[in-house]
Amino acid sequence: MQLGFLSATQKQLYQRDGFLVLENFIQDNICQLLIQRACKLIKDYDANGLRTIFSSQDQQHAKQHYFLDSGDKIRFFFEENAFDDKGQLKQEKLYSINKIGHALHDLDPVFNTFSRSHQLATLASDLEIIDPLLIQSMYICKQPFIGGEVVPHQDSTYLVVEKGPYVTGFWFALENATLQNGCLWAIPGGHKKQLKSRFKRDVQNRTTMEVYDDSPWPLAEMIPLEVPTGSLIILHGLLPHMSKENLSSHSRHAYALHVISSQSQFAADNWLQRNDSLPFKGF
Ligand code: FE2
Repeated sequence: MQLGFLSATQKQLYQRDGFLVLENFIQDNICQLLIQRACKLIKDYDANGLRTIFSSQDQQHAKQHYFLDSGDKIRFFFEENAFDDKGQLKQEKLYSINKIGHALHDLDPVFNTFSRSHQLATLASDLEIIDPLLIQSMYICKQPFIGGEVVPHQDSTYLVVEKGPYVTGFWFALENATLQNGCLWAIPGGHKKQLKSRFKRDVQNRTTMEVYDDSPWPLAEMIPLEVPTGSLIILHGLLPHMSKENLSSHSRHAYALHVISSQSQFAADNWLQRNDSLPFKGF
């Protein structure tokens, strides 16, 4: 018999708030290992190739494709404020990447091992995610001085399932996440409201945002989730959350993993799509 990870109280808190903070979930040396691995991937990444794509005439088109094709790849996305007026990086490449996405958990051996730990599988079981599938991973740098804000959203806007439980996010703080360096903010209990919008991709690879509720986000209800290095924040797919820009001199590295139940059926018109050669897998 497999022992659970979460106590009854923690499960109740998660159901009440739509998020749950678990401090000391990852050991410091594992955080360091993941940071070092991400930094190596960034160092090895040929940013000049990408700059060529992005400086082509049809810049938006190229950018859009680079993003839309990233569901089964390891791709690198710059901070919006990474470039100066002349198109040159303001800070060196290592301090200019906003995030790496979206299949690190399948394609990179270090992130694959971390993402498929016994601990996480047990946690998914505690959360009653039946036959879990790991559908998306992101390494988020939130760089010093230029780390961009992430506007309020629900993860289910971007990762829709046809039925059953919504997507669940596992957000790992690999460094301290503070008010100064752009910690997460969330609305406790906000997951009990409906999905406000849905990001869709059609067969011609055009994307649209379908809006169901255009009322403004109740920003006054957002509370900061400052957490120390090694913490895990579990996020319900309907939970409104955001993060502010990072103007401090400290980065805020985090790793995010999104999981669904295979019974939920990942919507075919999600932006994130995969080649048949790399199907979603479980733990
Ligand atoms: Fe999110």
